[in-house]
This record gives sequence, C-alpha cells and structure tokens, in this order.
Amino acid sequence: MKLSLAYKLKKKDIASLIVMSVFLILLIFIKNIDYRPGITLDCDSCAQDIGPMERSGHYEEMLWNGVRHVHNSSNDNLIQFTKTNHLKFAQKEQTIGNCIDCHNEGANAKAASLGALWVKYPRLDKATGRIIDFEKAIQYEFVKRYGGTKPFYNDVRITEIMVYAYEKARQKKLVFDVEPDDGIPISDATLAELNTSFTCLKVFEKLGKPKGDIAPYITKGCNIFTNTTKNRPTGYGFWKTRMNCSSCHLEGGSKEYAAHIGDGAVSYPGVYSANNIVYTNRMRIARCYAHSINEILYGANSEYYKLITLYMAWIAEKSAIPIGENRQSRGIHNVRGTAARHASIIAGQRAYVANCQYCHGPAGYGSDRFDNDPKLSPPPITGSEAFVHTATLSYSSRLASFILNNMPPGATHDKPLLSAQEALDIAEFISVQTRPAAPNTNNLSVLYNYFTNTTMEWWFGEKTNGENI
Ligand code: HEC
Ligand code: HEC
Ligand code: HEC
Repeated sequence: MKLSLAYKLKKKDIASLIVMSVFLILLIFIKNIDYRPGITLDCDSCAQDIGPMERSGHYEEMLWNGVRHVHNSSNDNLIQFTKTNHLKFAQKEQTIGNCIDCHNEGANAKAASLGALWVKYPRLDKATGRIIDFEKAIQYEFVKRYGGTKPFYNDVRITEIMVYAYEKARQKKLVFDVEPDDGIPISDATLAELNTSFTCLKVFEKLGKPKGDIAPYITKGCNIFTNTTKNRPTGYGFWKTRMNCSSCHLEGGSKEYAAHIGDGAVSYPGVYSANNIVYTNRMRIARCYAHSINEILYGANSEYYKLITLYMAWIAEKSAIPIGENRQSRGIHNVRGTAARHASIIAGQRAYVANCQYCHGPAGYGSDRFDNDPKLSPPPITGSEAFVHTATLSYSSRLASFILNNMPPGATHDKPLLSAQEALDIAEFISVQTRPAAPNTNNLSVLYNYFTNTTMEWWFGEKTNGENI
C-alpha cells in the first residue's frame, strides 16, 4: 500500500477552517472575557491602604485583588462581573464610583468603612425576615448601585472584597457586633416556641441570652448547631447520621480546647491548613458538614449556613475574640506518641471499657440507654453513623488530644481526667474501628457542588420575590 502525505482538502474541511478562523479572530476582539487575577497594576493608594504585605501566598494574592477592586471598582475585573450578570452598566468608559470613595475611614466618608461593616454581619434584613451575610450584602450593593438583577454566590471577586474587608477588621482588631447592646433579651416563651435545645439553654445560661430582633435567629443557629440532625432542611430527612456540630464542638462550640467556634468565626476568610487555599467561613462549615457529620452539603445560599455563621459570630462577640486573633486554645491539638510512650490498642481497649463504654456503648455506636437523655445523649464515635475517615478526629494524635482535654465529660484542658498515655491508647483503639469512608474529594464534591448550588436552591425555594438573591 502506498502512503501519501498529500491530503486533499475537501469542501467541508475548508468550511470548518473558515469557521475556526472567524472564531479565533472574534476571540481577539472580545478581550474582556479574559480574567487575569495575576495582573498587579500599580496602585499606590491600594498599597497605602493595606500597608506592607508579603505578596506571595494565596491569601495575599486575594487581598491584593480585593484592594484593587475596592480602589478601582470600574476596572476590567468588576466590569466583567457586571457583564456576566447582565448588569446595565457594562461600558468601560462609564465611571462607576469606587467602593473606597464612599466606604472609608475619612471624616467625610459617605458610609462606614468595609472593615467596620465586616463585624456587623450576618445581619437581619427586616423587610424579608432573612439573614444577610457579608457576601450577600456586597451582592445587594452591586445590584443597588451598579444596576442589575442577578448576583450569585461563589464569585471570586466577591470573595476578594471579603478578604479585604476581613483584613481591615483584623488590622483594627475589631470584635463582632451582631447583637444590639440595648436589645431586649429573648423571652423564655420564645425560647420554648423555638424548641431550644438543652445545650443552647446551657450556653445562654453561661454567656447571657441573645438580645434584640436578631435573638431568635441566633437561637435558630444554635439549634442547628446543637441539634443538627433534627434541624435539616425539608427533604434531607433521609440522610443517615447522628452527629451534631456540638458533638465535637462541645458546650455549643463555647468550650476551650474543643474547637471553640468563636475562633472559627474570626479566622475566615483565611488559609485552611489542610489544603492551603483560602476558605470562607461557609466553606469551612461545609467541610465539617461533609467530613465530620458525614452529611450532604446544602446550597451555597442556604439559610442554614447563614444561621450557623450568625451563631458563630455571636459566640465570638460574647467571648470577645478580636477578628484574626489566633488563640493558643484554638482547634484540636496533638498528643504525639514517643518511642517510650507508644500507643497500645490492647491497653486502649481496657481503658475504653473502664472510662467510655458506659456512655458510648461497647462498640462505640452510642448507647440506647442515653440516646434520648438530652444531658447525656452520647454520639456514636465509630460505625456507620460516626464521623468519616478524613475528619480531623480520625487522626489518632488529634483524637487523643480531644479525649484528653474533654472526655469523660467534666475533663478540661487544665484538669484532664485521664493521663496522656491513656488518651493515646484509647485513641489508637478507636482509630482501628470502622467508620464511613471519606466523601470522595474529587468527583463527589464536584457533584455535590453542582447539585447543591443549582438544583437544591431551586428545589428548596430560597427565593425572595422570585429572585434568588
Ligand atoms: C456612592 C457611594 C458608594 C459606593 C460607590 C459604594 N457604596 Fe456601599 N454603601 C454606601 C452607603 C451609603 C451604604 C449604607 C447603606 C445605604 O444607605 O445604602 C452602603 C452599604 C454597603 C454595604 C452594606 C449593605 C447595606 O445595605 O447596608 C456593603 C457591604 C457595601 N456597601 C459594600 C460596597 C462595595 C463592596 C462597594 C464597591 C464595589 C460599594 N459598597 C460601593 C455607599 C456606597
Ligand atoms: C466529628 C467531630 C466534629 C463535628 C461533628 C463537627 N466538627 Fe467542626 N471541627 C472539628 C475539628 C476536629 C475541627 C478542627 C480543629 C483544628 O483544625 O484544629 C473543626 C473545625 C471547625 C471549624 C473551624 C474552626 C477553626 O478554628 O478554624 C468550623 C467553622 C467548624 N468546625 C464548624 C462545624 C460545624 C458548623 C459543624 C456542624 C455542621 C461541625 N463543625 C461539626 C470537629 C467536628
Ligand atoms: C457520661 C457519658 C460519657 C462518657 C463516660 C464519655 N463520653 Fe464521650 N461524649 C459524651 C457526650 C454527651 C458527648 C457529646 C457532647 C455533646 O453532645 O454535648 C461525647 C463526645 C465524644 C466524642 C466526640 C464526638 C464523637 O461522636 O466522635 C468522642 C470522640 C468521645 N466522646 C470519646 C469518648 C471517650 C474516648 C471516652 C472515654 C475516655 C468518653 N467519650 C467518655 C458522653 C460521654
């Protein structure tokens, strides 16, 4: 057989070549579809505004983009946002005011600085009775000031502006201010009406009852946090898990060395250590939903995230933790074994039987005896209804620290009830039991995101006047 390199162009080949060239030429003209976060044009006022910055990490990159949006709100990036959202003002030559022209710390500022606004959110929108978080507030502002109809969550430019606002609040060490000081404390009747959980009542006893119009929403957030499995959105009842946020974030998230959630509230947007990318508070909450609760993610605009975020901000306010403060007690620490102090599964089993089995049951699945006792209701620590393999607590050095500082109930960081050795042994014993597999970090989470952000929001109708804003 004779091979020939010559290839005769057929009519349809020529047609497709023409179509392709026209497309390429068009691409050259539609320059604006090109979003280039890497571009760092000079902006002296930006540099002055945020001060010296190590411009290397993901956070710094987003911060730099954020400050550029705020100082040059009519730049290509934001215009692109307005374009994709079919806003009316899309022409480059049209001068849209910069955020900083109105929102600054100067004497004749037209509005509060974005840092000062950061600590006021989430906030109640009285007209709709809905909770607005900062992300949503910026979106409303776009619609109001730049004219448009369709803002959406998960836009990187919105997150960059959030990083800027957060950074300004951090520099000034502001404390959350979501509860009015002069508000009336929520009544016992309302607390009963809202089916307030035993744990929330304890939290309110400790930190004071929430006050003002926002109080019922703070209570709702607390109820979701402490009774997560019973307070799912309609339609999610099929999901099988018995974990509540407060199963691990003890005392409704207000216990030191049990991942106090005031620390979470003041730390995001921030770099999340597990994957080095910038997480917003909502993303961090969603991560615990998926990995610790073994729960499906709710839509990004879900009222559930906003209510939890509000409750977290309130805990931070009551605990007087300034934005960005990295407290020593934050999170769950490590108890590491050493050659001399190696963990033993057999010793762990013995110590488990002696100290834990009474509540958590022989296999760690929980115990029928106490399941309906709100004071004890011990969550499963192993088995199909427990936290998944990728949860922080599934690493035995972290689990050992949680146990040492918190279990059996009554233990604290200062006064543990077990020795470090016992905690290590028990953690090792628990770690070799079964638990659900990790939510697949590639395919499944992409599917979750797609599924939840589109279908779920539509399905559960979180809409205001027909608009999903
Ligand atoms: C022309 C002045 C002006 C510009 C430009 C402007 N804002 Fe505002 N903004 C205000 C005022 C005034 C308020 C106070 C609420 C109100 O009166 O609408 C406000 C409120 C807000 C709020 C709180 C929402 C609310 O309803 O209280 C946020 C968040 C916000 N602005 C963000 C931004 C961002 C981000 C930009 C730039 C993309 C921006 N603003 C541009 C004047 C401005
Ligand atoms: C199985 C135990 C467990 C459950 C259940 C759980 N979490 Fe967590 N959570 C943790 C641990 C452990 C950390 C990580 C602390 C660390 O990184 O040191 C954490 C961290 C967090 C953080 C970040 C805190 C910080 O300081 O950065 C937030 C926010 C959070 N969880 C929210 C939630 C919410 C909301 C729920 C319920 C939907 C929940 N968690 C359920 C164990 C749990
Ligand atoms: C008196 C009953 C009781 C005893 C004894 C007890 N726990 Fe718990 N445990 C609880 C309760 C209740 C919670 C959840 C706190 C809440 O919901 O407020 C919990 C939470 C936990 C959690 C985190 C949530 C989860 O499901 O993973 C772990 C891990 C845990 N316990 C391990 C232990 C270990 C190990 C021991 C023994 C050293 C122990 N517990 C002893 C009642 C008990």
